[in-house]
Amino acid sequence: MSQRGSGYERKALDLYDTPAWVTAPLLPHLPGVRAVWEPAAGSGKMVEALRAGGLTVEASDIAGGKDFLTSAPPVELDAIVTNPPYMLAREFIERALLLMRPRGLVAMLLRTDFDHAASRRHLFSKCPAFARKVVLTKRIVWFDGPKAAPSFNHAWYIWDWRHRGSPMLAYAPAQ
Ligand SMILES: C[S@@+](CC[C@H](N)C(=O)[O-])C[C@H]1O[C@@H](n2cnc3c(N)ncnc32)[C@H](O)[C@@H]1O
Repeated sequence: MSQRGSGYERKALDLYDTPAWVTAPLLPHLPGVRAVWEPAAGSGKMVEALRAGGLTVEASDIAGGKDFLTSAPPVELDAIVTNPPYMLAREFIERALLLMRPRGLVAMLLRTDFDHAASRRHLFSKCPAFARKVVLTKRIVWFDGPKAAPSFNHAWYIWDWRHRGSPMLAYAPAQ
């Protein structure tokens, strides 16, 4: 997730760790999911939170030699969940959707306005699998230290190939 314009210095490969409180509210929105691939795992913060929720998680990252955009997925897989590098977010979503067809689920942590762009309609209003947006009502602080400050607003975007009908909206923590 890029943090340009928020006072954050850009880190190489967008290596931002997602705090556990951000991943925890996603868990109730993963019905029937047991086996997850976190393909941009970084230092593993999101992986830890998913495992703490009882999920079996396969973790990889380009830093460990596995490029999500070109690598084969694990054999056992119900869902792909990650916080993608901002500059590759569209490519990550498109590839994840392709890999999870025809029955799986995709969850990506993105800025709350990521679904506004006309160029991304094929991922949202024109995508039958787009099932849910879970808006985080607190802003994320991406690192500790004297310069730490909240950044942009974020949401979980969830695609589920079993979904039918319009996408749903939820808030976390619940209001
Ligand atoms: C925003 S960090 C997310 C880290 C972790 N998912 C989390 O939320 O704590 C983005 C991660 O994407 C990885 N990355 C960048 N390009 C990638 C690619 N093509 N394939 C796999 N991982 C990639 C970076 O190395 C970095 O660890």
